[in-house]
Amino acid sequence: MSTLHFAIVGCGGITLQNHLPGLALCREARVVALCDADAATLERARQQTGVNIVSTNYEKIVQRDDVQAVIIATPNFTHAPIALAAIAAGKHVLCEKPLAMSGAEARRMAEAADKAGVRHMTAFTYRFVPAMRYLAHLVKRGDPGQPYHYRSCRLQDWGTRNLGWRQVKKLAGTGELGDMLSHRIDFAHLLVGPMKRLVANLKQWHPVRGGAPNDLEDWAAILAEFQSGATGVLESSKLASGRNESWRSLDSVELNGSERSFVFITGEWNKLQSGKVGGPGLETITIPQEFWKVPGSPRDPRQGDPLVTFRYDQAFEFIDAIRNRRPCVPSFHDGARAQAVTDAAVKSAETKQWVEVRQ
Ligand SMILES: NC(=O)c1ccc[n+]([C@@H]2O[C@H](COP(=O)([O-])OP(=O)(O)OC[C@H]3O[C@@H](n4cnc5c(N)ncnc54)[C@H](O)[C@@H]3O)[C@@H](O)[C@H]2O)c1
Repeated sequence: MSTLHFAIVGCGGITLQNHLPGLALCREARVVALCDADAATLERARQQTGVNIVSTNYEKIVQRDDVQAVIIATPNFTHAPIALAAIAAGKHVLCEKPLAMSGAEARRMAEAADKAGVRHMTAFTYRFVPAMRYLAHLVKRGDPGQPYHYRSCRLQDWGTRNLGWRQVKKLAGTGELGDMLSHRIDFAHLLVGPMKRLVANLKQWHPVRGGAPNDLEDWAAILAEFQSGATGVLESSKLASGRNESWRSLDSVELNGSERSFVFITGEWNKLQSGKVGGPGLETITIPQEFWKVPGSPRDPRQGDPLVTFRYDQAFEFIDAIRNRRPCVPSFHDGARAQAVTDAAVKSAETKQWVEVRQ
């Protein structure tokens, strides 16, 4: 099998934590080119990886003949122009979430990728938690029965520190909504299907973070109705003091159906809670081993911290979809669906009205 050549655009936090280690596990993939707008970050990445084709200009990198696939891990406002340039050059694209700055922009990206016949993937990384993959399987099998309610809660303690581009509207689009809630909007679509309408609220507590202006929200909440008739409540905060951060903080989803309820917590990667209607309460289900990784993934789920390493299956999914000429899961269309909810939430928070979600 020929080796797939990758370029990475954006060599900051998530590239170092996730994309590089994920690709390193895949023997049939090789990173051949790197791009970062910041020369010092690019030089550090060059030294760390030994990849010597580097540029601060993404156009030069995505147009290279020796690059077949591009990973975009830059601030949100750059996703669309970089993805569209890569697609125009005929490259497969894995782009970070939130996919774009608006639903319209995200849909343009998905349509351009479909038209060009390239693979496209949105990095909704938490879909790869084994417990979430197993829950999605149980839902598909019909175990919850008719879904009544979806509930998600993401609580972190980020205090008042400077979040860089994440606290600047023209660079990030939205704050907590796109940053953290976008993953949980995607879970909702995965488990319950498309949202129909919603009412939302956004709250900014700190107009200054770490001495710099913050013009985005620290907290977001959505009350939703799904097309299936199910209801949803989604909340996400950077200001849940004492809750810690990342996978050491709360990330929970609960699904109540006519037959069963299920509770997923990212921190409990190999367990779910479930209870049946009229039963004595929730019991623990252990995730079967065949769900500990994506089938075919080269990752050994017993190696490393499982709360970190599940993310590496994302690179495998992208590569496997390219190899087998099948759609990536999740695709740009999933990213665009989440973005439509984000647009509706912003509009609802501004107008204090229920808003229909454009699907
Ligand atoms: N999937 C996840 O779980 C997850 C987790 C963290 C971040 N993210 C997403 O990943 C993206 C990057 O986040 P991060 O935390 O790595 O940010 P970061 O600030 O650590 O890194 C971004 C890098 O992009 C570079 N950059 C900016 N503009 C550029 C351009 N035009 N061309 C090339 N490089 C450019 C910056 O210099 C920086 O090094 C964001 O969209 C974020 O939402 C996703």
